Amino acid sequence: MSTLFAILFYVAFATLVAGLGFKIAQYARTPAPLKIPTTPAPLTQSGAAFRVAREVVVFESLFKSNKPLWIFAILFHFGLFVVLARHLRYFQEPVWFPVALIQPLGVWGGLAMVGGLLLLTLRRMLLTRIAYITAPGDYIMLGLLIAIGASGMMMTTLTHTDVVAVKAFFLGLMRFDIRALPADPVLYAHLAMVALLMIVFPFSKLLHAPGIFFSPTRNQSDDPREKRHLCDWAAKLEAERN
Ligand code: HEM
Ligand code: HEM
Repeated sequence: MSTLFAILFYVAFATLVAGLGFKIAQYARTPAPLKIPTTPAPLTQSGAAFRVAREVVVFESLFKSNKPLWIFAILFHFGLFVVLARHLRYFQEPVWFPVALIQPLGVWGGLAMVGGLLLLTLRRMLLTRIAYITAPGDYIMLGLLIAIGASGMMMTTLTHTDVVAVKAFFLGLMRFDIRALPADPVLYAHLAMVALLMIVFPFSKLLHAPGIFFSPTRNQSDDPREKRHLCDWAAKLEAERN
């Protein structure tokens, strides 16, 4: 079973890195031929960078447009952030000080993450307007994340697993040395679903995470009157013509 999980995680990690690399390269090469920042927009590029940062950290435009959705989304993403930051301890020795500092927040991070996900799911089921535009894929991603969160919470609060052995397994994997994984069905389920999440990530709606950085309505400055806007291919064409 340990070997099986080792292979699964090597495949999942390779798929995640290669898939994300491919998608990010594709996004970076996609031309943005028009100046289309949503106005009022920052006048400078550093202002636009700050605007993207506000979108990523506090979901600024969602706050302006839909308060209940903003609360649910913030609850889930902040919970996820705490949970993932806390998980870093499985992959490092010695553990960074900030990672050690947030360890007591585990249950709260998990609760915020799963609670947020449940609220986001209810919203899709109960609001007719939203249910109408919800595809099976939306429920599948929410369901997968809920199942990962619930199995993780089960280990943290009820069943408990040998976290020292889990850490030894993952530190070993990083040195191509396969150690024994605790024979715990809840841990097996948690890890199998995490591997699945890593594999589907580059092909799913979760690509909104890297995608937001490439959104022209957010990352462009409002300076078309000062500077002529030319995307790369248009600039090349113009250079060839001259
Ligand atoms: C740069 C990082 C990220 C940002 C700025 C971000 C932002 C957002 C926002 C604003 C929404 C709500 C949009 C809407 O429903 O109209 C959303 C939804 C969602 N996010 Fe993220 N996200 C990030 C990373 C992630 C990651 C890493 C995951 C999962 C591993 C994730 C999972 C989800 C899911 C499942 C939903 C959809 C909820 C639903 O179906 O209603 N996000 N995200
Ligand atoms: C290889 C990656 C991962 C490993 C080895 C892992 C392992 C674990 C273990 C051993 C626990 C129990 C902790 C304890 O008993 O104190 C746990 C809890 C948890 N896991 Fe994971 N997990 C991984 C990835 C993830 C991911 C990607 C997510 C979210 C999408 C996640 C969500 C959770 C949650 C919500 C908990 C409960 C709260 C907490 O203890 O922080 N895990 N995980």
